[in-house]
Amino acid sequence: MREDGPFEMAVHVLDAMAREGFEQLVALHDRRSGLRAFLGIHDTSRGPAFGGIRRFAYRDEKSGLLDCLRLSRAMSLKCALAGVRGGGAKLVVFDHPGLDLAGAYRHVGRCIEEQSGRYYAGPDVGTGWTELAWVAERTDYVTQAGERGPGDLAAATTAGVFAGIGAALRHLDGEEAWDRRTVVVQGLGSVGWRLAERLRALGTRVLAADLDDSVRDRARAELDVEWLAPGSELEAPCDVFAPCAMGGLLHDLSIQRLRSLIVCGAANNPLARSYHAALLEERGILYVPDIAVNSGAVIRGAEFHLQGRRTTLEEIESRVGRVVAHVLRTARAEGRSPFAVAHREAERRLHETGAAGDDEAADGSRTVAPVPVVPDEAR
Ligand code: NAI
Repeated sequence: MREDGPFEMAVHVLDAMAREGFEQLVALHDRRSGLRAFLGIHDTSRGPAFGGIRRFAYRDEKSGLLDCLRLSRAMSLKCALAGVRGGGAKLVVFDHPGLDLAGAYRHVGRCIEEQSGRYYAGPDVGTGWTELAWVAERTDYVTQAGERGPGDLAAATTAGVFAGIGAALRHLDGEEAWDRRTVVVQGLGSVGWRLAERLRALGTRVLAADLDDSVRDRARAELDVEWLAPGSELEAPCDVFAPCAMGGLLHDLSIQRLRSLIVCGAANNPLARSYHAALLEERGILYVPDIAVNSGAVIRGAEFHLQGRRTTLEEIESRVGRVVAHVLRTARAEGRSPFAVAHREAERRLHETGAAGDDEAADGSRTVAPVPVVPDEAR
């Protein structure tokens, strides 16, 4: 290896950070616990950065780093569209068999504490309440369960995804008609399971797939859905394909296999590349952008940390539903893809300066009274 090998990579990272407007990237290493992690803070111009801790067995360092950067940027865009007074961050932990989980998460907690409130951590793939409790031993800038937290975050995300599907169906057909629809759910985890339950309660036909056999067995016993062999869900004819597993699943080949009218789900970054939005459009599939539809958890988490309130699921449903409807309407009026419109609006909001419009959602609604810029007594 050339002597400057690792630094060569760092230079590319800095170029990418400059191009995409990242503020900070922290690399974490703890010999004792075996922790290897990256914390990416994309943007704090609207307020502190929010983002989950993802623990995953990444193939290599580069793929973990890219995931960290892509996900933290998406969080900033999501906050901007939803009218959350915050920005985006992500902490990715490289999972491996020798990792001392408790020690690693405590070390992560110390790093978050050092950020002094610039970053609030929450759950994500591989990090649930058990892991967050270890983080909370070292810092308060973390979302917690029960009385000390904002409430069920996956339920908040599900409420938003449900509202987004409803808005997309109304956009295409003028009505939801839940009992005449077929929805394919990919991934029956925290969000996919709740979504399937909600849809079944309305009489929707639900087809589901999950890679985990134990999930399949539990679903067969407890959930009234039709089971699909993992991999085959992409080509099942349906009204809505709801990706609720991992990102990157929609690419040149998989898009050709899709037989749905709408793609709308919880997964972050489901498009492998941004041009895949146009490919979906070409195939006549309405794609509801992730940054518009999966913001339920960050709305709930951020409003708890910043305003001390617990957002109800009804509020989230109505907020996300309005933002999705606005994005779809604007896209139709302008003859552009919803992806292009959502990203343009989010970027614009991100770069707007001043606090006045910060908590206004993309559809112009304002569900929370704005925090006064000038204190009352000074007016
Ligand atoms: P989870 O980890 O609870 O569930 C994911 C499920 O997908 C697991 O059951 C897993 O076995 C399954 N799976 C993984 N790869 C699969 C594949 N290729 N085919 C079929 N099944 C597969 O995750 P959760 O919390 O339900 O989140 C789902 C997605 O939504 C993730 O991409 C997450 O980043 C995103 N998201 C979740 C939020 C939340 O509040 N939980 C908030 C915003 C986004």
